[in-house]
Amino acid sequence: MVKKVWLAIFLAAAATLAAQVTAPEPTPAAQGVKPPTPVVAGIPANYDEAKVGSYTLADPLLLNNGQRVRDAKTWYAKRRPELLQMFEQLQYGHSPARPAGERFEVVDKGTPALGGKAIRKQVRIYFSREPGWPVIDVLIYLPAAAKKPVPMFLSISFGANSTAVKDPGILARTVWDVKKMSPGKNERIPAPTTPSFAPINIDALLDAGFGVATFYYGDVDPDSANGFAEGIRAHYSEDWGSVAAWAWGMSRVQDYFETDSSVDAKRVAIHGVSRLGKAVMWAGASDTRFAAVIASCSGEGGAALSHRDYGETIAHLMAPSRYPYWFTKNYAQFAGYPDKAPMDAHLLIALIAPRPLLLQTGSTDYWSDPKGEFLAAVAAGPVYQLLGKDALDTTTWPAAQQPILHDLAYSMHDGGHGIVAWDWPIYIEFLRMHLHPEM
Ligand code: GCU
Repeated sequence: MVKKVWLAIFLAAAATLAAQVTAPEPTPAAQGVKPPTPVVAGIPANYDEAKVGSYTLADPLLLNNGQRVRDAKTWYAKRRPELLQMFEQLQYGHSPARPAGERFEVVDKGTPALGGKAIRKQVRIYFSREPGWPVIDVLIYLPAAAKKPVPMFLSISFGANSTAVKDPGILARTVWDVKKMSPGKNERIPAPTTPSFAPINIDALLDAGFGVATFYYGDVDPDSANGFAEGIRAHYSEDWGSVAAWAWGMSRVQDYFETDSSVDAKRVAIHGVSRLGKAVMWAGASDTRFAAVIASCSGEGGAALSHRDYGETIAHLMAPSRYPYWFTKNYAQFAGYPDKAPMDAHLLIALIAPRPLLLQTGSTDYWSDPKGEFLAAVAAGPVYQLLGKDALDTTTWPAAQQPILHDLAYSMHDGGHGIVAWDWPIYIEFLRMHLHPEM
């Protein structure tokens, strides 16, 4: 009851805030309602609830030996490691540890930016002293008025830093032309000037007392089957996919945060959209240093249930013409056989527990199966509860624009794939509740 009253008050406040913040325009993908594509890579996709069929999900609180997990201690000591290993083995692959040669070059040490609202830093992360290794260029803004280390919103971006935020002080960088990649002939090109997909609402975050950081995902691993040699994966013998590599990149930025006294490294929320939503789900699951996760429209291979046949499936992801390089090779065995997979999105969510997680979806983003993300969160609920946290506390899929902001949170905007202006006040409320910025 108290929660319901609170939610009503919050929704009214969110509506007012939505009118106030200068959110970026909705991304093109989020504007129109695209009709669902019936066949992708020659594989039909189902969009009919009546044809979803039945499925059984693994019990998150049952150990592989059949014993029940009844306390937090057993969860952390036994079940969590079992699940982590399962995802490493069967879905994302094994990521290497923090590189011994990692070092940080603070190129821009703190320059007033964004009309005096922020202090900008730019940091280059190196992984080795040997030539030919990728580097990550991180762009950071701290609220100018901050007197203490600030909580951070770290978002992994599709474009170069210069396209993620409007600021002439951002150092010019290059990107991959992924459509033209071919092994042995890959060169980076100057970053385009068009804003990247899903721009960050930096004003609203800074005003709420958060620092903001971002980097270009292609710095870690180019998003192309033909770009392996140019990415970080080529420097290790592990079998890991691009999603794990992007997640690994986020962990390396966290390594830097731990050295920067203007940042509170214990209050870092991570964020990504779409394939980068998958990356932040895995980053949050595999690196417990992250304090909170916001995954936007992460869909199949992220927070949507694979056992539920709706929209994209593992077979679509792993089709040779699409994204098999995002995952470990082992994942392909479940293409067409999701019922054989011992893991699913609810177990991935459980790996993020007890830390706050917001699944942000779109009501007409059928391909990503917004209902499948809700059902995964429902199935992960017992783990949040075991660890003393608030799960969704309902099994009824809420309508669009009826967010549930508990420790485990779900919010569906009215519209398609990506982020829309309406989502930002929801993000900020969720972040405020859990990371308590000093404002
Ligand atoms: C494709 C892919 C999705 C992915 C999305 C994106 O639609 O099938 O799994 O999330 O691209 O990253 O934009």
